[in-house]
Amino acid sequence: MRGVLGLGPAVLAAGLLLSSGGAIAASAEKGKAAFIQHGCWQCHGTEGQGGQAGARLAPEPMPLETFTAFVRTSNRTMPPYPEAVLSNEDLADIHAYLQAIPKRADYKDIPLLNQ
Ligand code: HEC
Repeated sequence: MRGVLGLGPAVLAAGLLLSSGGAIAASAEKGKAAFIQHGCWQCHGTEGQGGQAGARLAPEPMPLETFTAFVRTSNRTMPPYPEAVLSNEDLADIHAYLQAIPKRADYKDIPLLNQ
């Protein structure tokens, strides 16, 4: 009985570590949903490729810190998104989604275009 009680806090701590680890790890899949849900796609295109109204965000998005700072404080054409509207977790997921978008092929690697 004593052994089981002694183990309790350790198991609890491990559980907390695991669950907070899960919260920190950004998910590109969830980010894609958040990118659509928060309307980013309407100005930036569904893959962040840029469009009529918004800048290109992917591939190779800016670092997460710069990205977050911009989204929170934007004061030109793009509306700012306060944390109450878009959580840091969702924003990190969106960043992970943009990071997961592959770079376009270089035309120099396409034989047909290099004859
Ligand atoms: C109403 C259109 C609109 C929406 C919606 C929008 N943006 Fe933007 N965004 C822009 C425009 C336009 C710019 C270029 C800077 C400016 O004029 O404000 C921009 C710039 C940015 C930049 C900086 C890009 C750079 O290279 O400087 C980031 C990052 C960004 N947007 C992320 C987002 C995210 C994430 C969302 C969704 C939560 C979003 N935007 C929603 C219009 C939009």
